[in-house]
Amino acid sequence: MYLKQIELNHFRNISGEKLDFGRQINIIHGRNGQGKTSLLEAVFFLAITKSFRAKSEKIVLQHEKEYLQITGLFETDMKDEFSIRVYYSGAEGKHVFLNQNKIDKFSQLIGKIPVTLLSLEDLELAYGVPANRRKFIDILLSQVSPIYLQALQVYKKTLSHRNRLLTLISENKENSSILFPWDEQLVKNGAYIIRLRQQFTDFANTKIAGYYQRISLRDEEITVQYKSNVPLEPEADDIEKIFRQTLFDNYDADIQRQNTLIGPHRDDLIFYKEGFPLKAYGSQGENKTLLIALKLVESEYLKEQTSENPILLMDDIFGELDNERINNLIGCVIPFGQTIITTTSREKINGLADETVRFLEIEQGKQVK
Ligand SMILES: Nc1ncnc2c1ncn2[C@@H]1O[C@H](COP(=O)(O)OP(=O)(O)OP(=O)(O)O)[C@@H](O)[C@H]1O
Ligand SMILES: [Mg+2]
Repeated sequence: MYLKQIELNHFRNISGEKLDFGRQINIIHGRNGQGKTSLLEAVFFLAITKSFRAKSEKIVLQHEKEYLQITGLFETDMKDEFSIRVYYSGAEGKHVFLNQNKIDKFSQLIGKIPVTLLSLEDLELAYGVPANRRKFIDILLSQVSPIYLQALQVYKKTLSHRNRLLTLISENKENSSILFPWDEQLVKNGAYIIRLRQQFTDFANTKIAGYYQRISLRDEEITVQYKSNVPLEPEADDIEKIFRQTLFDNYDADIQRQNTLIGPHRDDLIFYKEGFPLKAYGSQGENKTLLIALKLVESEYLKEQTSENPILLMDDIFGELDNERINNLIGCVIPFGQTIITTTSREKINGLADETVRFLEIEQGKQVK
């Protein structure tokens, strides 16, 4: 996928601006606070119809303005052109248009514009709590599968309802048989969630060490494990059955804690280097390299699932990486096609041909070069 042009109105500190991007590497550079991340955020917003750093549209709407609008002109790998326009105002809410036609449900756009984002906050993926890693995998799988997204939404709703029932049961206001229909919903959707997460993990295991080694130039074995708290046997083909039985075995504990203790909402992804968990043993540089490798795996997964090269977005990730690693990383992203990178120091990128890289300098929300 290639984003040819973006036009922004009243988005963060960008009042009104039209920018043209190159097909391969685009370097958005400028001093702190000029609008580099905002620009990446706008590209992400077009693809996912949400920001990656703001919880609500109100935050990205320029101060004291009534509405914001972002329009992107895209070209697919098969050279079909289309436009996406996102409009938001406090009074009218958010509206998305594909080729001028209003989209009823944002989920209709799922997978249309595959995009991967790598930012410093993603380090939380390596170091942070399991919820961060579940969020990563859920966003990825929701991007490629509307069925996954739906299963996830139903699972979450069912879970919170089940937890309310557990409270009533523990207070003797309900009988535990009331759980049965809810458990069936939980089991069906939860098993599907686990299966797809496992499939992605299998895919990741075939790719992640390769990327890690290409960036670090070290021959180290990196593996990923999907750690489910549903006690699955390796190669278990009947996840539903095992999940159902485990829920049943845990009734007393669940009622006592008024909380569902078993299920994919408590699962985790664990990364290992030479068999040791990187979270506990890895250095900062190693964890950062792991993260970059994971994002490249994500990009490849999106490409496989959507049959379209994703747009890669990288926000300010060169800090702490030596020039050799930066060059290795650039070598890895070039085959994907379009990449948009923000940095305060354009000097970090050198030795690339003019047709490969385009530099855009941003100052106070405007392109100056
Ligand atoms: N809703 C908004 N309306 C107007 N300005 C905003 C809004 N939200 C953020 N800003 C401002 O936009 C400016 C650009 O922010 P942005 O995060 O894009 O900078 P940046 O170029 O990525 O900087 P850095 O190099 O520090 O990461 C900041 O000064 C910020 O305070
Ligand atoms: Mg920034």
